[in-house]
Amino acid sequence: MQKDIGELDSDEAKIELDRLHKLLAEADIAYHAKDAPKIDDAKYDAQKMRYFLIEEKFPLLKRNDSLAEKVGAPIASGFSKVVHLQPMLSLGNAFNEKDVVDFVERGKKFFKHDKGLELAFTAEPKIDGVSASLRYENGVFVQGATRGDGSIGEDITENLKTIKEIPHYLLGEGYPDVIEIRGEVYISHDDFAALNKRAKEAGEQTYVNPRNIAAGSLRQLDANVTAKRNLKFFAYAWGFISAPFASSQFEAVQKLHEWGFEINPLMAICKNSQEMISQYHLIEEQRATLGYDIDGVVYKLDDLDLQQRWGAVARAPRWAIAHKFPAEQASTIVEAIDIQVGRTGALTPVARLKPVTVGGVVITNATLHNEDEIKRKDVRIGDTVVVQRAGDVIPQIVKVILEKRPSGSIPYDFPDRCPVCKSEAIREIDPKAGQKDVVRRCTGGLVCPAQAKENLKHFVSRNALDIDGLGEKQVEMFFEQGLIEHAADIFTLEGRDKTNLTPLRNKEGFGSKSASKLFEAIKAARTPELPRFIFALGIRHVGISNATLFAKTYGSFEEFERAAIAANTKESEAYLQLLSIDGIGQTVANSVVTFFHNEKNKKALGELLKQVKPQNYVLKIKNDNPVAGKIIVFTGSLEKISRAEAKAQAERMGAKVSGSVSSKTDIVVAGEKAGSKLKKAQDLDVQILNENEWLELVEKV
Ligand code: IVH
Repeated sequence: MQKDIGELDSDEAKIELDRLHKLLAEADIAYHAKDAPKIDDAKYDAQKMRYFLIEEKFPLLKRNDSLAEKVGAPIASGFSKVVHLQPMLSLGNAFNEKDVVDFVERGKKFFKHDKGLELAFTAEPKIDGVSASLRYENGVFVQGATRGDGSIGEDITENLKTIKEIPHYLLGEGYPDVIEIRGEVYISHDDFAALNKRAKEAGEQTYVNPRNIAAGSLRQLDANVTAKRNLKFFAYAWGFISAPFASSQFEAVQKLHEWGFEINPLMAICKNSQEMISQYHLIEEQRATLGYDIDGVVYKLDDLDLQQRWGAVARAPRWAIAHKFPAEQASTIVEAIDIQVGRTGALTPVARLKPVTVGGVVITNATLHNEDEIKRKDVRIGDTVVVQRAGDVIPQIVKVILEKRPSGSIPYDFPDRCPVCKSEAIREIDPKAGQKDVVRRCTGGLVCPAQAKENLKHFVSRNALDIDGLGEKQVEMFFEQGLIEHAADIFTLEGRDKTNLTPLRNKEGFGSKSASKLFEAIKAARTPELPRFIFALGIRHVGISNATLFAKTYGSFEEFERAAIAANTKESEAYLQLLSIDGIGQTVANSVVTFFHNEKNKKALGELLKQVKPQNYVLKIKNDNPVAGKIIVFTGSLEKISRAEAKAQAERMGAKVSGSVSSKTDIVVAGEKAGSKLKKAQDLDVQILNENEWLELVEKV
């Protein structure tokens, strides 16, 4: 007889969690590999649900290899969601050789106390395809997923299984029991051309580039369609591993090859930035004849222990960088210049272009950034211009070809009123620089329909509340129809819909199924995670990583709001605490304070909080070390590790690193020549460690 989860104590829960983990993992293998299910579906689902409920009740027991969670039933798109056991990170970019040199220098600085250490890096092509994560358990391919938002992707196992270059069973030996193999799905130029030829002959739509076709093929609901596309796969990285299997990047990738994966033949080891740049040029020279698209070169620190130490920032590792190939260019004509009004009122000029193909993609718009930029480049309507696009960034205008300028053209006159609400549009004075801001902003605030609409789009965007079925298009429609004006209206939509003459299910683009699904998704969004909610508010300068910092610091929305309201003077304790958050400077702090003191915002927030209850932030960290959850200040100079590394270590263990000492500080790590902060710590009776004591403590964890 199974005990109710409510009755389990922590020890029993641990035993139960381990038992279920084993049972479910075996069932997965039996199901996928041997095609002979061990337990029936209903029992499997019930046990899995029990597993996740125990994890939810005892978050500290969450195993490192927690089962990839299938969150609910398949979503609207037809694929269920998969939680990556370890997030899929993206890469920082280098656009020129100096950026590469700087990257290597950052590494040297980080490890400056490791005597005689020579940093080596791998260099390999950056494949322009679609990344995928493949989970193997005991050598059997059990689940494959898209990257998604990096933490949660979509389950595309069946489609991935049709790719010949993805083994269903790993070859050889030495692979960890559980491993997430990461790589790129792509299509060759030849196959791309053949597919497009066929599509054209059949009168179907053609694809603009190989990457789009790879992405489209992976999202086919019918795996038979995917199977016909001849997709290919290069393995180049890994996520979760149940045990280490190599000591260097290069060696690890060779192992992936031994286990049956294709790896890119152009990967090389480089001893310094010169060698890295040479490899870049070598790869660039071969670009046109490789037979598949690449868009740069990725450098990775070779030593895996050092990778671990260097760590990651936000969603990208510090130990790797993508060196992008220069953008492709073409020339075309500016047919018009429109002004777009953004969420914060910024007026952004956009050039409407005569359609032109750049690097295989047709472009019709290019950003002109701001008023000064138009002036500087003197872009006029009717001008012939050089445009460029690099990767996914918005195409840009490089320069005007003056020889082709039509006679009688006049310079562009930037408007000083908002084109949407006609409010005055001004350039604020930046208090720090004492100069006019480059951006001209509409002063209409939420009264301006454009700003209100953009705020709503932001509110439901991917890093914010991310409501399934409520994307930009739907927000646009609801806004135009007067159904949703402010964020709070989203949550009263269902109630009002009941008395609406044309209920949602009868509106174009909706049926009764999609309407009820949307209402379900909205209901589910009533208890958002705290970082998402803070981000969703659209406070200027508060992106998702700053929002996460606030969530971590204050724990609940009430506390955050209380602190922001109390921070009304620069001398207040609350303001100083805002500033003491590592990574938060004056600009962000001021913006937060201003936001919470604005009457219109207060009113909108009040309405919103009647509908929504943000969750409290629970640190998802192991609680079994002495610094988890503590506030630490580093001061003075460290001799054995760099300051950056000490900070990274503390954060990895779940501590918060602060820049200043206060009564809230738990530990001060004082290096040589520590000054006033050490003194303050002594006065406040804060625990003080020297560098060696700190390192001993880290070692023990
Ligand atoms: S490594 C932790 N290596 O680039 C590092 N990524 O901008 C994870 N990509 O999402 C990525 N070729 O889709 C790596 N040789 C390569 C790559 C590569 C293409 C893609 C990948 C990733 C994106 C990051």
